[in-house]
Amino acid sequence: MSQQRAEIAPAEGKLGVLLVGLGAVSTTFVAGVEAIRRGISKPIGSLTQMGTIRLGKRTDNRVPMIKDFVPLAGLDDLVFGAWDIFEENAYEAALNAGVLEKDLLNQVSEPMASLKPMTAVFDNRYVKRLHGTHVKSGKNKMDLAEQLMRDIADFKEKNNCDRLVMVWAASTEIFLEEKEAHKTIEAFEKAMYDDSDDIAPSMVYAYAALKSGVPFANGAPNLTVDIPALRKYAEEHGVPICGKDFKTGQTLMKTIIAPGLKSRMLGLAGWYSTNILGNRDGEVLDDPESFKTKEESKLSVLEQILQPDVYPDLYDGFSHVVRINYYPPRGDNKEGWDNIDIFGWLGYPMQIKIDFLCRDSILAAPLVLDLALFLDLAKRSGLKGIQEWLSFYFKSPQTVPGLYPEHDIFIQLKKLKNTLRFLKGEDLITHLGMDYNND
Ligand SMILES: NC(=O)c1ccc[n+]([C@@H]2O[C@H](COP(=O)([O-])OP(=O)(O)OC[C@H]3O[C@@H](n4cnc5c(N)ncnc54)[C@H](O)[C@@H]3O)[C@@H](O)[C@H]2O)c1
Repeated sequence: MSQQRAEIAPAEGKLGVLLVGLGAVSTTFVAGVEAIRRGISKPIGSLTQMGTIRLGKRTDNRVPMIKDFVPLAGLDDLVFGAWDIFEENAYEAALNAGVLEKDLLNQVSEPMASLKPMTAVFDNRYVKRLHGTHVKSGKNKMDLAEQLMRDIADFKEKNNCDRLVMVWAASTEIFLEEKEAHKTIEAFEKAMYDDSDDIAPSMVYAYAALKSGVPFANGAPNLTVDIPALRKYAEEHGVPICGKDFKTGQTLMKTIIAPGLKSRMLGLAGWYSTNILGNRDGEVLDDPESFKTKEESKLSVLEQILQPDVYPDLYDGFSHVVRINYYPPRGDNKEGWDNIDIFGWLGYPMQIKIDFLCRDSILAAPLVLDLALFLDLAKRSGLKGIQEWLSFYFKSPQTVPGLYPEHDIFIQLKKLKNTLRFLKGEDLITHLGMDYNND
């Protein structure tokens, strides 16, 4: 057994989970945790709650639950807070989102109704389809960040929390590119005082979180915390960050199937993905500028997994198209179609069709839970800056500059579990297997 790399502080006391955006994903997450606490359901889809981890050799029979192996906050120790641009409480917002049945929501109506969003930092120029009224006003963006920092401190005190994490589960903002204002923390702060358009509302939240020492996860594809100024600040001040864009639905399928095709050296001529969805997220993504942010995030995965430069005979110039169509009758129950044109021995073509009748927020909610618990673990373990081991949860994983992201879900899972083994001083598992033959 290798040595434990550092002491992990215990998960004592309450963990406050601050959600930016109290929409479909956030309310499905909170209602789910409340239902699980009451024994109404099991935490299906959550690796922290249902996953196990093998330790040592296959013959050792040491396979604890992840939550028993590393010290994670328990579900009973979670407290929820949120900001939204609408005033509805979590119960009303969940009813509007239409993901969960009223019967289920009524069983958790009390904690849901008592979760009332704080006023948001919002600017309609960054999310063009939404017009909120429950919004802060301030002299400039620094003033708004300071108001958020006060919200954070007040929440912590009122709820008697030991630790906090923040998860962005608000709408996707318009596509922004990295600018001078994003390069250093000095330039970033100046831009906040100057009320620069380069600072999106999501960046104001991320800044407020980091300044308050609160780990931050970005569930949407916005630039947000993925800029040198905030990355460096997080690294220097010991705050874990991760993102971007929860990996659910079609991209989840892509990162499950593409590694399999590649492992068998099957070629790809094209992958056409289209989906219909009718929730508020779909409405926001109907705006071309928000869609562009999402499209960039969705397109990157195949290129990295298939490596056309390494395997030109199999993957050079494959066609990859992604479409999202806003179709209100579908609500949150998205339908994603994939047509995959592959080729095999002697170049003979074949096709795979996937029709995934999924539920977006049902897939996303357990990711919010895992990210909150793992980010808190990261902080207590002394990890800082980008948490690449949490790539498993994202469509567009944040990495240290200069490193390409790992998209293959199986590599991501090995990375995550090996990080947990590393934190606890257990041997990393290479799957080599030679030891067994030499007995
Ligand atoms: N559901 C999924 O499978 C999935 C997957 C990947 C990413 N995402 C992303 O997660 C985010 C949330 O998705 P959703 O389905 O819950 O969307 P939603 O539209 O139901 O909820 C988003 C909420 O954020 C609020 N909001 C917008 N801007 C805000 C701001 N500046 N401050 C506070 N609140 C703000 C909106 O009023 C809304 O209530 C979206 O960006 C979406 O693209 C979702």
